[in-house]
Amino acid sequence: MDILKLNAISPLAGEILKGYDLTDESAAPVGILVRSADMSAYDVPASLLAVARAGAGVNNIPHADYAKRGIVVFNSPGANANAVKEMVICEFLLAARNLVEGIRWTATLTGDDVAKQVEKGKKKFVGHEILGKTLCVMGLGAIGRKVAASAHALGMTVKGYDPYLSDAAREEIPFVKVLPTPGEAYAGADFVSLHMPATEETKGMINAAAIEKMADGAVVVNAARGELAVTADIKAALASGKLHKYVCDFPTAEINDCDGIVAVPHLGASTEEAEDNCAVMAANELKDYIETGSIVNSVNLPCLKLDAPAAHRMTVIAEAGAALPEGGLRAERKGFVYAAYDSAAPFDAKSVESIPGVIRVRIIA
Ligand code: MLT
Repeated sequence: MDILKLNAISPLAGEILKGYDLTDESAAPVGILVRSADMSAYDVPASLLAVARAGAGVNNIPHADYAKRGIVVFNSPGANANAVKEMVICEFLLAARNLVEGIRWTATLTGDDVAKQVEKGKKKFVGHEILGKTLCVMGLGAIGRKVAASAHALGMTVKGYDPYLSDAAREEIPFVKVLPTPGEAYAGADFVSLHMPATEETKGMINAAAIEKMADGAVVVNAARGELAVTADIKAALASGKLHKYVCDFPTAEINDCDGIVAVPHLGASTEEAEDNCAVMAANELKDYIETGSIVNSVNLPCLKLDAPAAHRMTVIAEAGAALPEGGLRAERKGFVYAAYDSAAPFDAKSVESIPGVIRVRIIA
């Protein structure tokens, strides 16, 4: 069975997927491993059961459409969280201390008296400390919570906003003042760090109105997705001095080489450790789903953790409300139901396939 790689993926994936053909080209893959490749124009073959994203964001995968076709889309939540957290803390510091501009200036100095020029000119780059400053973390998922904890340990006052924060996640970060609205979270913040996916609700959330609520001279760090910020509003706020810096992991022609913008070439999750962690998590998700039907960390279909089948197993993806056979285990989410049936006797897939609303039936064993 082919597993198609649409991006370079850590070789650790191959160790987990031993027995599969891990390939860069296949007309009939059962699974896909992807990082940032855009799948919107991918011609989906009938063989495809699942796509696993080695990373957190899934905006490069048409996952809502894939759900309707019975294709499970997984992501790797938390697997690169430490890498992104370290990058974000680094970005708070480099923005507060004007390091990029300072280093660029140093590179222009020539002659025998560079040390003298440095001492004379360095006052242009005097910065601020982050100790005692207020950080607003937008999105308190695996990455946002880690950023909040490290910032708190560095002496920042941390507040945040996340409409989907679970009680268990809330308990991990008692030092964060979680606010009920984005406006209250932005209010007076010296630093704002974005950790939300790009959705219809979040696109453009960093706009003139949001920036206006922040402290004068605030720094916005965007390691989430470029679409969360309105570039024209960011540029206007930088020009007026309302914002001190915008650090963005998603460069475009519009933001490259603009005063006050630090454009980082999408390096937030680019560490060997994070790439290994993501590859391992994504490969395990695919393997478990293909071999047992278990769904963990799906972004588009219900999750149902299953052990290896003892004898025969059938799984069904259907529209919620479909008149599926009684028994088995099932989970429902976003208008879909996923059911798994175990039996000592073989299953007849055909009779289930003909039930109205059934999208995909798999006989796993
Ligand atoms: C993510 O969504 O986790 C990152 O964008 C991963 C990556 O760098 O590919």
